[in-house]
Amino acid sequence: MNDSLTIEQYIKRQSETIERELRRIIPLDWNIPPKLKESMRYSLEAGGKRMRPILVLAAVEALGGSVEAAMPAACAVEMIHTYSLIHDDLPAMDNDDFRRGKPTNHKVFGEAMAILAGDGLLTHAFHTALQSYRKQGIPAERMLSIIEELAAFAGIAGMVGGQAADILGEQGVTTLKELEYIHLHKTGDLIVCSLRIGGHAALASDEQLEALQQFGRNIGLAFQIQDDILDIVGDEAKLGKKTNADGQANKVTFPYFIGLEASRDKVAELTAKGKQAIQDGNFPNPERLLRLADYLMGREY
Ligand code: IPE
Ligand code: IPE
Ligand code: MG
Ligand code: MG
Ligand code: MG
Repeated sequence: MNDSLTIEQYIKRQSETIERELRRIIPLDWNIPPKLKESMRYSLEAGGKRMRPILVLAAVEALGGSVEAAMPAACAVEMIHTYSLIHDDLPAMDNDDFRRGKPTNHKVFGEAMAILAGDGLLTHAFHTALQSYRKQGIPAERMLSIIEELAAFAGIAGMVGGQAADILGEQGVTTLKELEYIHLHKTGDLIVCSLRIGGHAALASDEQLEALQQFGRNIGLAFQIQDDILDIVGDEAKLGKKTNADGQANKVTFPYFIGLEASRDKVAELTAKGKQAIQDGNFPNPERLLRLADYLMGREY
């Protein structure tokens, strides 16, 4: 992609391309209950920053690989992320009414269909990712690694584990270490996964995968701390979700523990640490990843 684009222009272009693909991920000849399809598409096509698939593609670019070949795997990450948001908003979890600027999935389709839309997105994500091999010719070994890592990072020792710890800990989290565990897993792991998937798609070496992992771990933790900060100081119209949700649910967050200013400093420190891993990691085109990290640190939504 054209190197002279600003990071904002780059993000806009990439998210338009990703959204075009997301509109086509359900095969037209599959016989699906119309409400289920509608409810999946409602959340998937509601917008959102598309930051995880953008990170997949930026990792590919950093290594000089084929963005087109990685696209199905990138869409799969966004599907898993979207399912996690639908379930996160359910009454039994965070009980939120707005997401991506619209009423939450269960508000429109009811809880049962929202649960099933999440299940549908999660299951279909694996079918979608596999098209990086079937249609785009990514080597089978790398495809296996992508599928294995999607399952692990999104699963019980990853995002699902982090969400469980978040729910179990709601009021009982007493140390910053415990909170860090929650953030690293509920949010960090899917971001790490995105970067490693891009790495595999572009045939990264073990050293490069490790650098992507370190980058992801640091910017992933920073991403959730920034989410906690925006829950306090953000603008609902920009965020597309209600602020002060954490306060109302008595969630323990980084600002709760260390205050807003120290949380902001932590975001900056983690971002710098993440960027260093990429700078030391021997990538032919690291620029975009580095600029994305800076962009995320300053994000307002
Ligand atoms: C929200 O993720 C949930 C978290 C993991 C913090 P995003 O802030 O990426 O939400 P969208 O995809 O832009 O809606
Ligand atoms: C959500 O964290 C993380 C996942 C969905 C996996 P939050 O509960 O803080 O996300 P928001 O603030 O509702 O977007
Ligand atoms: Mg939550
Ligand atoms: Mg939530
Ligand atoms: Mg939040």
